[in-house]
Amino acid sequence: MSRNLIKEGITKVVGGWRKEFPILEGHPIGQQHGEEVVKSIENLKRGDDKCKEFRIYRWSPHNPNQKPYFQSFFLHLPSCGPMVLDALQKIKGEVDSSLTYRRSCREGICGSCAMNINGVNTVACLKPIDTDTSRPMTITPLPHLFVIKDLVVDLSDFYHQYKSIEPWLKTRNPPPEGKEYRQTPEERKKLDGLYECILCACCTTSCPSYWWNPEEFLGPAALINTYRWISDSRDDFANERLQAITEDERRLYRCRAIGNCTACCPKSLRPSEAISKMKTKHLTGIPVETLSNNRKTSH
Ligand code: SF4
Ligand code: SF4
Ligand code: FES
Repeated sequence: MSRNLIKEGITKVVGGWRKEFPILEGHPIGQQHGEEVVKSIENLKRGDDKCKEFRIYRWSPHNPNQKPYFQSFFLHLPSCGPMVLDALQKIKGEVDSSLTYRRSCREGICGSCAMNINGVNTVACLKPIDTDTSRPMTITPLPHLFVIKDLVVDLSDFYHQYKSIEPWLKTRNPPPEGKEYRQTPEERKKLDGLYECILCACCTTSCPSYWWNPEEFLGPAALINTYRWISDSRDDFANERLQAITEDERRLYRCRAIGNCTACCPKSLRPSEAISKMKTKHLTGIPVETLSNNRKTSH
């Protein structure tokens, strides 16, 4: 019996084998995407029908009287890259150049290709194509924002909210020796799980509290970045930062700890955990140094 047949047999009996990616340790969403890619490649090797339907939300300000609609595109998967962004690039390059979306780095660093794919907010360049051709992939803009065109949404409020938390190092004294503010490795480690935020807005636009209170509530992206600066040993304004997000309690406390933000973050960050630590600090006055930050802790 061939190795593949044995593997397939095991898969049927135990419900799937796990492929481990050591480099993605501590990054469960990356691990999940890696597994999906492996599965997709196997599907492609096996499948007869390799044409996949992509249902994409379309709306153009040039035809303001036309309601938004879904347009289907069919792609031959073996001639397409493995990620959803590859499919969009192929459609734009070869089928319909009017399809509009943001993208830049194509490797999960810039955050610009955030959209909703099969009902979940994520970045298209890190989301593998589901190669099961019996069902389409549905792609829509990030929810609850004004659409500018097709998959491009207006992020002005999102950026204003981010700017309002003053996301830069604020100190009272010049650096020792006039050069740089230094950290110990332990102090630097406290920023892990926070500094990696790429401002994609997946979390904020998946948050029901933000949907209903977009003007009052800062949203999980701005708040995890507030916590990033509160946790920074070089920053001298932790208390002022906390005060700024609690003067109007709706900025922080409109979070109801639902956890959608943490569930969808494509960088496997935990905004809800950061928010709950700030609530604890605010309510109890516990110093932030003792509210350890560890992305592996359970939510
Ligand atoms: S945990 Fe808070 S910020 Fe995150 S989705 Fe829920 S309500 Fe929104
Ligand atoms: S916390 Fe995650 S989902 Fe939210 S903006 Fe940052 S990277 Fe995107
Ligand atoms: S293109 Fe930069 S995150 Fe996707």
